[in-house]
Amino acid sequence: MASADLAVTIGAIKMKNPVIAASGTFGFGREFGRVLDISALGAIVTKGITLEPRAGNPPPRLWETACGLLNSVGLQNPGLAAFIRDEAPRLAACGVPVIVNISGDSLAEFCELASCLEGVPGVDGLEVNVSCPNIHAGGRPFASDPEAVYRVAAAVRRVTGKTLIVKLSPNVAGIARTAQAAEMGGADAVSCVNTYLGIAIDAERRRPVFSRVFAGLSGPAIKPLALRAVWEVASAVRIPVVGIGGICSPQDAIEFLLAGARAVAIGTGNFISPMACLEVVEGIRSYLEERGIRAATDLVGRARGHAGHTAGSHSDEAYVYEPKERKAEDDFAAGKGRSHGGEQ
Ligand SMILES: Cc1cc2nc3c(=O)[nH]c(=O)nc-3n(C[C@H](O)[C@H](O)[C@H](O)COP(=O)(O)O)c2cc1C
Repeated sequence: MASADLAVTIGAIKMKNPVIAASGTFGFGREFGRVLDISALGAIVTKGITLEPRAGNPPPRLWETACGLLNSVGLQNPGLAAFIRDEAPRLAACGVPVIVNISGDSLAEFCELASCLEGVPGVDGLEVNVSCPNIHAGGRPFASDPEAVYRVAAAVRRVTGKTLIVKLSPNVAGIARTAQAAEMGGADAVSCVNTYLGIAIDAERRRPVFSRVFAGLSGPAIKPLALRAVWEVASAVRIPVVGIGGICSPQDAIEFLLAGARAVAIGTGNFISPMACLEVVEGIRSYLEERGIRAATDLVGRARGHAGHTAGSHSDEAYVYEPKERKAEDDFAAGKGRSHGGEQ
């Protein structure tokens, strides 16, 4: 039997297979590099990088739930300069495309991160984390306003020639609209989704578990929700979708491809088994070869032919996002909400 073609392309990134290690669950590949061959992955996404180093939130930062994990890490990271000095040269030699996840609290910060990373060897793409709070919008996450997502994507697009992926938050009223805003802003792809906001309460101490109350839920518990988000987003945009949320097995990954994802990323699954990414690569290969399917790309969106009338499509008027006229950042920053501050 002919061997299946697993290769997929996201923007300018040619991946040997559709399996990516998700941001924040794979560090900078150092520890995982000791137990698995990182070059066998499709790509890796780094932990979220900010301009300055961040110590993160006080403990506890992780809390197990039924079939899931709540985290409130608080974007602990060494900062941009240390990343470029200590991590990027090693990552450049790993033989795998590297996507750097960036978090800013203003358009200016996102742009500075993107332009400083522009000439760094071994950085193939940027994943823009729009779940972080916008200081010019009272701390409301960028993701909560499609206009803000459009502006971030457009601003970063102007300063980077690298593959630009916008990572969507599921904690919004209409994720398809946010995805369209990212596409209109010039994103090459969207990744879908970040964690779902949740809370844990300590009944003995009669108080919230996390210092910032809200935390991000990930793992198998969110898989059906993330699949729905991918389905809706793939209906609304023409750029590739990277499916994320509770993927632990080859079957999970294949379900996301069938729903419309061009590639998948594995997060919490890496904590359950450090070999999860590689097992998923091999499982997708077997699935294709056992069924005589030529290529992984042949699976993308194949479940969609069976959609009922509730499933979105390009012609759904409700999903058409039009960016407003460009204004100064402060003009649209009228929000009164406060940062939940709980994710990652
Ligand atoms: C401990 C932890 C840290 C994370 N850190 C980041 C981060 O820095 N930036 C980001 O965009 N997403 C971050 N995420 C979100 C994951 O990349 C992923 O979108 C989410 O966990 C859902 O996928 P999963 O169910 O496979 O874990 C983090 C998730 C976890 C569990």
